[in-house]
Amino acid sequence: MLLFTYYGHAAFTLNDTKNKLLFDPFFTGNPAATTTAEQIDCNYILISHGHGDHIGDAESIARRNHAAVIGVPEVVAACHAENGFGMNVGGQAAYPFGSVYLTQAIHSSGIPGAIACGFIVNMAGKNIYFAGDTAFYSDMALLGEQFDLDVAILPIGDNYTMGPQDAAKAAKMLKAKHVIPVHYDTWPVIAQDPEVFKDMVEAQCDSQVHIMKPGDALDIDKL
Ligand code: NI
Ligand code: MN
Repeated sequence: MLLFTYYGHAAFTLNDTKNKLLFDPFFTGNPAATTTAEQIDCNYILISHGHGDHIGDAESIARRNHAAVIGVPEVVAACHAENGFGMNVGGQAAYPFGSVYLTQAIHSSGIPGAIACGFIVNMAGKNIYFAGDTAFYSDMALLGEQFDLDVAILPIGDNYTMGPQDAAKAAKMLKAKHVIPVHYDTWPVIAQDPEVFKDMVEAQCDSQVHIMKPGDALDIDKL
């Protein structure tokens, strides 16, 4: 099992039953969240950048769960975690659950000296790319070549990140078997119809798009 659970905006977990990775834990103040920070358990927290809708509740969740924080050093430091793993773009590291590779993300960082990033996580034999907040960039084609991606988790909200059209271009280049849109509908400024994105992607490549509602879970192993 490799369970993907979506909590709204860009917050989700990956759980292989031995390890539970929490990404961009924005619960407090997240109008889309159906779960509170206090209900979340995990042993790793991966944070793409320092904006409040991504670093979110990382500090309190890390403290309560004794979870290790993974991200660029400035973001890890901002979480004051007892256990942190600073990485940077282009670097890969092995962890008990598999490995993490940090990708670039074209976006501001929210913390001075930091940069925004994305993650390619290898876990339970699957390669999962979480783009974080980013503009479209053509080097995503290289990620698609280098990693045989099973799942790509892409922002589609526009305004702050790629919109549906750019995210569909990204999906075509990444060649992931499955695509999950995130970072939309949280506020009116990023309102999108994910069905439009799904139709665009599935019309131009073989990727299958999975539209998730906050609280939904998907077993990536069974796809
Ligand atoms: Ni951001
Ligand atoms: Mn954001």
